[in-house]
Amino acid sequence: MRKKLLIGLTAVALAGLALTGCSSRGDSSSADSAIKKGDTVGVALPAKTSQNWVLAKASFQKALKDAGFKADVQYASASNTVADQQNQIQSMVTKGDKVIIIAAQDGSQLSTQAAQAKKSGATVIAWDRNILNTKNVDFYVAFNNYKVGQLQAQALLDGMKAKKANGPYNIEIFAGANTDANATVFYNGAMSVLKPLIDKGELKVPSGQTSFQQVQTDNWDPKNSQTRMTNIITKTYSNGTQLDGVLSPNDTLGRSIITAAQQAGLAVPIVTGQDSETASIPLIMKGVQYSTIYKNTDEEAKGAVDLITDLANGKKKPAGVDYKDKTNAYNGKITVPYKALTPILVTKDNAVEAYSNNPTLEKLAKDNQQ
Ligand code: BGC
Repeated sequence: MRKKLLIGLTAVALAGLALTGCSSRGDSSSADSAIKKGDTVGVALPAKTSQNWVLAKASFQKALKDAGFKADVQYASASNTVADQQNQIQSMVTKGDKVIIIAAQDGSQLSTQAAQAKKSGATVIAWDRNILNTKNVDFYVAFNNYKVGQLQAQALLDGMKAKKANGPYNIEIFAGANTDANATVFYNGAMSVLKPLIDKGELKVPSGQTSFQQVQTDNWDPKNSQTRMTNIITKTYSNGTQLDGVLSPNDTLGRSIITAAQQAGLAVPIVTGQDSETASIPLIMKGVQYSTIYKNTDEEAKGAVDLITDLANGKKKPAGVDYKDKTNAYNGKITVPYKALTPILVTKDNAVEAYSNNPTLEKLAKDNQQ
């Protein structure tokens, strides 16, 4: 039944492709120049595995409306994520969307859809997460993910040092989902700081689990990180070995790691995070979670919309795009032209100031100041 439906959808998509392909190829040899104010921009978002995705819909709707474009924002469902997103992108192509912005559910499973989109004359923008192993991505807009990893690792070191002046420190390492291209970049950024210290013996990883595949978390699901943390505690720390810190790639997983430590009766270690989730800010202000990263979702959506506006205004090289950042933007085939935004490290010491452009977060920080 599902197979038939998929074949049906593909046929519709291909029919649409044939139509849109003709018209746009007629106007111009460059897909970008075809963009104009009033066009519909398709935005395919992944499942809501963290609060930033929940916020993204409204951020895009506002930024696109302000810039004079129509928005068509879709989420992948939690249960059938990859197929959902593939179908949503195909239908955006069929509808003739001139720009398709994609935050990939699984970066390695969208090359067919990216090819269809390009063939139809659409501009393809990978947003927040890169799309892998394809040349059919025009731009990538994201916060600097490698930098995020470096900031998280530095925060982990600072937090542990503030609690205990001298090492060696016992740490455990967590990473995001291996289906998300960002997860590896966060991990690589963090390991660029941690690995030399592990090699010198200043940091120890008592579980012995340090490779990306050992520390990744399926689907960014906090149930998985909580189970892994609990298992590590039972096996390695129930004999009184002190756990000083845990590198967590985001807030959702960070809270699950804190819960695992609390449930095991362990002193909560230094735990990092990312996303400035409203559930984590009170924990940070109270010193339960040590740090997070602030990546303003409105700013990130606007970053993509400003780029589209530049293209609509005929700029061949939109503002702020770097064509050579391999570390952040190489997708296995090409280094995607990359517009980077700057992430901010937040601890309880700078939270109020860091969130001064965001009344909700600023208030949360102030209300929970100790
Ligand atoms: C995003 C993070 C988010 C994670 C889980 C990543 O790709 O960059 O902000 O925490 O996905 O949803």
